[in-house]
Amino acid sequence: MCGIVGYVGGQNAVPILMEGLFRLEYRGYDSAGIAVLSPKATQVHRRVGRVRDLEGALPRRLSGKVGIGHTRWATHGPVTQENAHPHASPDGRISVVHNGIIDNAMDLRESLIAGGDAFSSETDTEVVAHLIARSLAPDLEGAVLDALSRISGTYAFAVIDERHPDRIVVARNGSPLILGVGDREMFVASDLAALVRHTTSVVHLDDGELATVTAGGFRTFTRELQDTAKEPTSVDLDVADVELGGSAHFMRKEIFEQPRSVERMLRGRLDDRFGTARLDGLNLTPRELRGFRRVKVLGCGSAYYAGQLGAQLIEELARIPADAEAASEFRYRDPVIEPDALYVAVSQSGETADTAFAVREVRRKGGHVVGLVNVVGSTIARECDGGVYLHAGPEIAVASTKALTHMSIGFAMLALALGRVRDLSISDGERIIAGLRALPGQIAEILAAEPHIAEVAAGLAAAPSLFFIGRVRGFPVAREGAQKFKEVSYRHAEAYQASELKHGPLALIDKAMPTVAIVPRDELTDRNLAAVAQVAAREGEVLAITHAGVLDGSGVPRIVVPKNEPELDPILLTVPLQLLAYHAALALGLDVDKPRNLAKSVTVE
Ligand code: G6P
Repeated sequence: MCGIVGYVGGQNAVPILMEGLFRLEYRGYDSAGIAVLSPKATQVHRRVGRVRDLEGALPRRLSGKVGIGHTRWATHGPVTQENAHPHASPDGRISVVHNGIIDNAMDLRESLIAGGDAFSSETDTEVVAHLIARSLAPDLEGAVLDALSRISGTYAFAVIDERHPDRIVVARNGSPLILGVGDREMFVASDLAALVRHTTSVVHLDDGELATVTAGGFRTFTRELQDTAKEPTSVDLDVADVELGGSAHFMRKEIFEQPRSVERMLRGRLDDRFGTARLDGLNLTPRELRGFRRVKVLGCGSAYYAGQLGAQLIEELARIPADAEAASEFRYRDPVIEPDALYVAVSQSGETADTAFAVREVRRKGGHVVGLVNVVGSTIARECDGGVYLHAGPEIAVASTKALTHMSIGFAMLALALGRVRDLSISDGERIIAGLRALPGQIAEILAAEPHIAEVAAGLAAAPSLFFIGRVRGFPVAREGAQKFKEVSYRHAEAYQASELKHGPLALIDKAMPTVAIVPRDELTDRNLAAVAQVAAREGEVLAITHAGVLDGSGVPRIVVPKNEPELDPILLTVPLQLLAYHAALALGLDVDKPRNLAKSVTVE
């Protein structure tokens, strides 16, 4: 999705902007551009394609002390150089980069054209550059405010002006924007990754807030020009976290980080004395935790599947009715918000627009919502009533792997905490804690089987279409497995409840349609094996993701994962499916870290 970077200070802005754009690449984009204020005029350079294409097109001596840059993911208008940001006012004086969508752009455009303006792009953003240039306000802040008063929609803007060459003015409403504080220099970005090499001292802007950024510092204020005195906070992020190191791809690096990241996540949160999890960030007393009669989980994509797994864990361990719904559907159906329900928003980025809107909908109607979020200080984390940080570290690959594992573990801890203030016995609590502690070592065991998984994956990649089946605990695993596979291999991968196979999709099974079957060793093993037999009887190939003791000596190809507690097994069963997808994409020669058409965090509707 779109990314913003900006610089003002004593250095040449160009290499800093370019480095920032390279770090934003992972979010997914189709074109990129920068604008720098040089002594004579604003220099704007834009290109369709990768950031390196833009870099190759820059004049060698390009320099300036103030500049803005952008990676675009097309929403209004096709992928062309004209539609790439930055966008300028007709006289070239104002340059703007924008994330988000201006809802009334068409109307504004028509009235500006009626007033004599000519447009050079089809974007909603260009309207804003025109409006700012038309303002009679003497300062850039006033001109930006004039423009904002006419637009509706979501945005993060960064604006530069030849008349005020010492500053960048930024504004936020619904799209993330962060200021980075340096030594006599300042940075602007939509994502921490773009700042990490320069500073760890940051200011998160809130919706409705603006800021003026100069080499000497920053000022934040509201649309009513009231100062909002904000203190910078320090973020715990390391350059190594957002670099490949020795790994071939971020996806593989992140998969292999899991044993260590999971250990870090669990540290200090498991309470042996009471057999429970300590989740202080929830801001809920045991009494309040006991009061909830229902749990509703909201998330999108992989987070939604982790939510399904989580709802099941909550029902199993806490015996509270729980379910998960795609936040993107929930927000549009005028949902009934129950006063005694606990709503849980789950998101890696904390910026997914659909999930953020769902959170607002719950809160507007008086519901209580907590977040399971990875990115500290993100929109969803800040808007929830409390939450559990996932501590997976930055996730760069578009396909979520470690963050998904951390979400599932976050749900296990939440389920444990909810269970222990209800009927879950201390010995069951201790059993789950021991299971959680075993996860890092068991994940490492699974990862050690990479060569075998790679071999199997190359075989599956040859099939144009495949099923992933599982039931009850195994169904969210199958859904996530299919999601991962289709995201990076572009193969049609469909998840189905193993129990439903015979009610329709069995018609599709033949030699050419392989099935990945999730078959844990639990009370449903025999039922799952019946589904496997139904597939095999139609000459369908099966790959079983299973435990030792199941299908031993059957000749059915297997990936065997270590056994944990039955409630926690789905967390481990998901891990080989990450490697399966990764190696299928590699076998097909695809760009694993940046799959086509996808964005890391979808900050527009
Ligand atoms: C996008 C990504 C998915 C991700 C989903 C939710 O659609 O392509 O991989 O699962 O957003 O992202 P979140 O940051 O809210 O977990």
